[in-house]
Amino acid sequence: MNALKTKLENRSATAAVIGLGYVGLPLAMEVAAAGFHVIGIDLDRNKINMLNQGKSYILDVPEKNVADAIQNGKFTPTCDFSALARADTVSICVPTPLSKSRDPDISFILSATEEIRKYLHPGQLIVLESTTYPGTTDELIVPELGNTGLNVGTDFFVAFSPERIDPGNPSFNTRNTPKIVGGITPACTDIALLFYSAFIERVIPVSSTKCAEMVKLLENTFRSVNIGMVNELALMCDLLGVDVYEVIDAAATKPFGFSAFYPGPGLGGHCIPIDPHYLAWKLKALNFQARFIGLAAEINGMMPSVVATMVADGLNRASKSIRGSKIMILGVAYKKNVSDCRESPALDVMRLLSEKGAVLSYNDPFVPTLRLGGTTFKSIDAAPAEIARHDCVIILTDHSAYDIRKIVDAAKLVIDTRNSTKDIHDYKDRIIKLGAGNNVPSSSQHDDEHETMPLRVTGR
Ligand SMILES: NC(=O)c1ccc[n+]([C@@H]2O[C@H](COP(=O)([O-])OP(=O)(O)OC[C@H]3O[C@@H](n4cnc5c(N)ncnc54)[C@H](O)[C@@H]3O)[C@@H](O)[C@H]2O)c1
Repeated sequence: MNALKTKLENRSATAAVIGLGYVGLPLAMEVAAAGFHVIGIDLDRNKINMLNQGKSYILDVPEKNVADAIQNGKFTPTCDFSALARADTVSICVPTPLSKSRDPDISFILSATEEIRKYLHPGQLIVLESTTYPGTTDELIVPELGNTGLNVGTDFFVAFSPERIDPGNPSFNTRNTPKIVGGITPACTDIALLFYSAFIERVIPVSSTKCAEMVKLLENTFRSVNIGMVNELALMCDLLGVDVYEVIDAAATKPFGFSAFYPGPGLGGHCIPIDPHYLAWKLKALNFQARFIGLAAEINGMMPSVVATMVADGLNRASKSIRGSKIMILGVAYKKNVSDCRESPALDVMRLLSEKGAVLSYNDPFVPTLRLGGTTFKSIDAAPAEIARHDCVIILTDHSAYDIRKIVDAAKLVIDTRNSTKDIHDYKDRIIKLGAGNNVPSSSQHDDEHETMPLRVTGR
């Protein structure tokens, strides 16, 4: 342990990062910038080739950082796991998706652990960063590594430290986002703290790996549940004829006890739609039903149908149907100013509209092509003339590049799922905004208790 401590203190340690995606590549760059030599391992040969040519494929990682790290010998990308034999620390940043039956798929963690086991040696620190269910580190990783005959806490060290990166966030990055660390033993926590403190401004120890795993799931479940609640509130506001955004912004003036969350077309990305299911799955095995998680997933999952209903209502006003209408999606990435389309609600909205016979196109400045079902779509120009050719445009992702004034001026019908048109006060008749209360049909102003709901939504 002392030898590893000295290497971490004087930055002579070699740090390996397994999985060079949205999480692993920024981490590798930060560790290299702190002065360590970094071995980056990924199964994807294209990524390794790009990195070796000094190219970045992650928007938040500037090309220059990769090129400099390669040139000054601080970063060695490879597909070859035998490089782990030289590593003093190993950070696991592989994907943790859901299987087809929506259960945790931890096969990526297991296969990375098998590779680590082959090259495990005394004085090595192994840290799992991938989001997973509580118990993964001590119930799966430690027994597998313990098969080598080496002892955890004395020969080698194991910790869990959840990655909290927020791609596209201009203020918070790997370095200035506080990091949680929980080790299998106190010695494991100490050594992991020493490692992360070398390149992260604030590192917070917790008492166990299970606690650290649970911290991440609390954070993401908190977001999922609050977004589900506010999505439901948006539907209520539509029925009540109140603008949900005005309500939220007014409530947010309360200086304590309230956090603002905003409605939208559904959840996306590799975290919020997936991670709470890891927790619910684990609890199910313990005969406990995680009801908030289920309810939030149900409400968030029906938002694409809500959007499709808004489109149908808007077209109906002009005596048009979805079938045959030209509909342009603005923004297919799951959130603004990023290129990540994993789990994006745009995919569900497009699928629903396509099933109803819409003639679909999309624009996204960050996503040049999009594969949906058997079809490959290409991002088309979002210039006013192009927008005017469409029967309807749907703002699904509020990328900063969009000039909303020009879009509304040119469009026949705008479905706004992100409050993007908040500053547009004319053309109200051509804008339908989620949760703005403008979906209330005029007949529902009557006192008819049997009035049809303006937004009849169906789950998926
Ligand atoms: N993307 C985010 O915003 C974010 C934020 C916080 C936490 N996380 C968590 O971090 C983890 C990684 O997510 P990501 O978004 O970086 O995923 P990603 O798909 O962008 O990157 C994962 C990389 O791992 C590689 N890989 C897969 N199996 C491998 C193996 N056995 N050995 C070596 N490389 C392998 C893949 O080729 C890919 O390049 C997940 O658990 C995710 O939940 C993601």
